[in-house]
Amino acid sequence: MNLYEAIFVRKSVRKYGMDKLDQTVIDHIMNFADSIPMIFDDIKVRLELVQLADLKHFQPGILTVKAPYYLVLYSTKEPGYLLNAGNMMEQIALYITARGLGTCYIGSLNLKDKVLEEEEYEQVIALAFGEGEYEVYRQNDKAKRLPLKSIAVFKEEVDKNVRTIVSAARLAPSGMNSQPWRMVVYNNRIHLFCKKNIFMKNVMKEAGLIDMGICLAHLLIAAEEMWLDARPVTISNISSQSFKKNDYIISVKMS
Ligand SMILES: Cc1cc2nc3c(=O)[nH]c(=O)nc-3n(C[C@H](O)[C@H](O)[C@H](O)COP(=O)(O)O)c2cc1C
Repeated sequence: MNLYEAIFVRKSVRKYGMDKLDQTVIDHIMNFADSIPMIFDDIKVRLELVQLADLKHFQPGILTVKAPYYLVLYSTKEPGYLLNAGNMMEQIALYITARGLGTCYIGSLNLKDKVLEEEEYEQVIALAFGEGEYEVYRQNDKAKRLPLKSIAVFKEEVDKNVRTIVSAARLAPSGMNSQPWRMVVYNNRIHLFCKKNIFMKNVMKEAGLIDMGICLAHLLIAAEEMWLDARPVTISNISSQSFKKNDYIISVKMS
């Protein structure tokens, strides 16, 4: 299974066996994680592997899933770091999924034991993973997602491949399954917007940007699968405008 195929079967896994994984599996995951390029060059990211067995004071909160391993992403806070973090972590989540293991994002993993000393890094997001106690795959038609017409506007008759790419983006996981992404779609470009949440402006805006990075990962992985050359770009005459219901995030150009 490759990353693209993993998009269509992944789900959040919340029950894990507590056995340790083979060290070679861990090494492969960490090597894969190290190979992912940043969306924006000046951002620095550190990924720390935390084993539940090593945590002295683990107290799962109501939203924290108990798992044998957590991968914790720390980042410097340059512009775009949340988008970058989501894009990276989702590639790792899909890689782990493709290896037959379960994953679940943890929005706020409370690590009492300090993992990273360097002050310039912020703990952004964590991913629980390990052997699932039950089936770790799900058929994509069982995923609870908004219909395509609610999240994408097709500005022209698009190629089958482009429709497939948007369908892959639709399956992206998001915090509380909020699915904030909105897309304006052409054959050679997709503009990504984040739905504004008028009730929880600041909290949701931050969390929403990680979700947008996850969605971007699905777009880019699917485009690559379709043999398209896709790259994220910020289009200044869109980013300079303000929109009532959505924030412009980034565009994906495809050729
Ligand atoms: C940024 C982010 C944070 C999340 N935080 C949590 C969390 O703290 N606890 C949890 O159980 N699930 C968490 N989730 C998982 C979502 O609830 C889940 O992805 C969403 O409901 C869609 O379900 P699915 O992953 O099974 O497709 C998070 C997901 C994302 C993307």
